[in-house]
Amino acid sequence: MTVEAISDEAILRELEPVVERELERHLKMAKEWFPHEYIPWSDGRNYNGLLEGEAWSKDQSKVSSAVATALAVNLLTEDNLPSYHFEIAVLFSRDRAWGEWVHRWTAEEGRHAQAIRDYLLVTRACDPVALERERMVHMAQGFQNDNPGDAIASIAYVSFQELATRVSHRNVGKATGDPIGDKLFARIATDENLHMVFYRTLLEACLDLAPDRTMQAMTQAVKRFQMPGYDLPGFQRKALEIAMAGIYDLRQHRDNVVMPVLSHLNVWDRDLGPEGEKERLELDAFLGEVDAAASRFTERRDARLARQAERQG
Ligand SMILES: [Fe+2]
Ligand SMILES: [Fe+2]
Repeated sequence: MTVEAISDEAILRELEPVVERELERHLKMAKEWFPHEYIPWSDGRNYNGLLEGEAWSKDQSKVSSAVATALAVNLLTEDNLPSYHFEIAVLFSRDRAWGEWVHRWTAEEGRHAQAIRDYLLVTRACDPVALERERMVHMAQGFQNDNPGDAIASIAYVSFQELATRVSHRNVGKATGDPIGDKLFARIATDENLHMVFYRTLLEACLDLAPDRTMQAMTQAVKRFQMPGYDLPGFQRKALEIAMAGIYDLRQHRDNVVMPVLSHLNVWDRDLGPEGEKERLELDAFLGEVDAAASRFTERRDARLARQAERQG
């Protein structure tokens, strides 16, 4: 016996009324906002080059190098929107309610890189030349959906990914130590949260439609999860720096991203067939391993921070 054999086309068709309803709800919930209001323009000044202003130097940045790394990673991730748009437009189509969602989502996401770049350039938090070079490398390589043509797997991934992005934006905003930075990233995080709610509702509909297959997709999405900027050059090192700074680590990933989605969808109490049950057990075992690894990481980090504090006397 195989997991529910339902074609992607049929799934997208079945989900269309849910997309229509959720899009309507989304449009009611989403509040208009203006990125320019979140940028402290009067703190800015010209750069070197054409305008013969002051070149960027590290001492101008008011954030630690780990926070600067996190800010750059979040911006570079948002920068790759054209590729994300392409992937979801191919997967969901540009027709009817699906198309409306694809375009609306893209328009909302378009604000994020714009606003973050303005904020970073005005506050001189990150090296603008390095940022631009990394953006070129990252965008030139494009982003590919890990589950092309698999709607359920893709919906499972984005449900977790939108929430991960929300948590990471929220935490980096706080870590700037700047009330305006905090507000800007909190605003972006609110957008990401509504995106998560949209996809999570679709995932719930998938669970009702094809429970075993959706359970399998969720297990795989959790096991193979990677942040959307994972294809950035040097991402592993950057991710470690970000985790060490407490902006996004395995504990937060498990407890604030994976578990809330799973419990909201009532994953542990659902009726499943034997295949779905097998997947659920695999997921449960994996989450146990993640829990242990997260505790080990936190302990090591705490010990290291304590040693550092001792050295600094
Ligand atoms: Fe975003
Ligand atoms: Fe988003």
